[in-house]
Amino acid sequence: DSVKVFAPATVANVVCGFDVLGFAVNAPGDQVLMRRTDRPGVFLSKITGDQGRLPLDPAKNTVSASVQHYLQHIGRADIGLDIELHKKMPIGSGLGSSSASTVAGLFAVNTLMDNLLSNKELIPFAMKGEELACGYGHADNVAPALLGGFVLIRSYEPLDVISLPFPEELHVAIVYPEVDVPTKDARQMIRSKILLKDAVTQWGNVAGLVSGLFLKDYELIGRSMTDVLVEPTRSILIPDFYKMRSLALEAGAIGFGISGSGPSVFALCREPETAHAITRLLQQQLKNLNINSLSFVSPVN
Ligand code: HSE
Repeated sequence: DSVKVFAPATVANVVCGFDVLGFAVNAPGDQVLMRRTDRPGVFLSKITGDQGRLPLDPAKNTVSASVQHYLQHIGRADIGLDIELHKKMPIGSGLGSSSASTVAGLFAVNTLMDNLLSNKELIPFAMKGEELACGYGHADNVAPALLGGFVLIRSYEPLDVISLPFPEELHVAIVYPEVDVPTKDARQMIRSKILLKDAVTQWGNVAGLVSGLFLKDYELIGRSMTDVLVEPTRSILIPDFYKMRSLALEAGAIGFGISGSGPSVFALCREPETAHAITRLLQQQLKNLNINSLSFVSPVN
């Protein structure tokens, strides 16, 4: 009784949709190996790829903690599970690293329990993991990691998650400058009160982006990818953010912004070739500043 599960990285916010929009990619992502054991309880026997940064204590690790919640919920806290987590993406990168691990764990346990819950029903358990990782149970990474594609969190209370259509050819270029920006800190720096005129601008853009996805209107998608609430503050933490933005848009990106809470940035593109060209330009720009970076190109998936 064992299962191996992969869960993908995700790009949350998609510029204007702070905490309400996100999409999944093909790769990178994390892998969980889970097997039933005779000893009751959830245990983590191995974590690789985390440079020793993640806790092995089952109550503190987001994967085991959310699996425990799931087992309590279904009334099976008696069973024994052993978990191996293989991190294949950087931590604190803005790519939904904790979400990918948590989602892989929940999908694994649900598979071992004969898919008792639907993927959508797993979302609240994954949100518990996010709460543990960064202090707030946001769903804009875990929902797309579980459901795939573009996802809208229409409401948190009650939870209302909607899968959106999107143009098939949509590709994303992601560049991760190797500077650490923990989500917890990146959330604390945002103003919690906003001006009505900024809110009007923002919800116009969110509605514009969603309409653009439905209509496959790239111009509309692009001009809606503007953020007056969060990006002006968070971009300070990202080296040469506005220079990278200009480079990406000049090279043909539909839109550009911070992935999740950063420091990764992403560019939406119509073709993989444009996405590859953009990663080269941005990585060169960072190299000029002596900053190492990683890059990924993937279809939205
Ligand atoms: N919506 C979250 C934030 C995503 O921006 O803080 C974190 O990856």
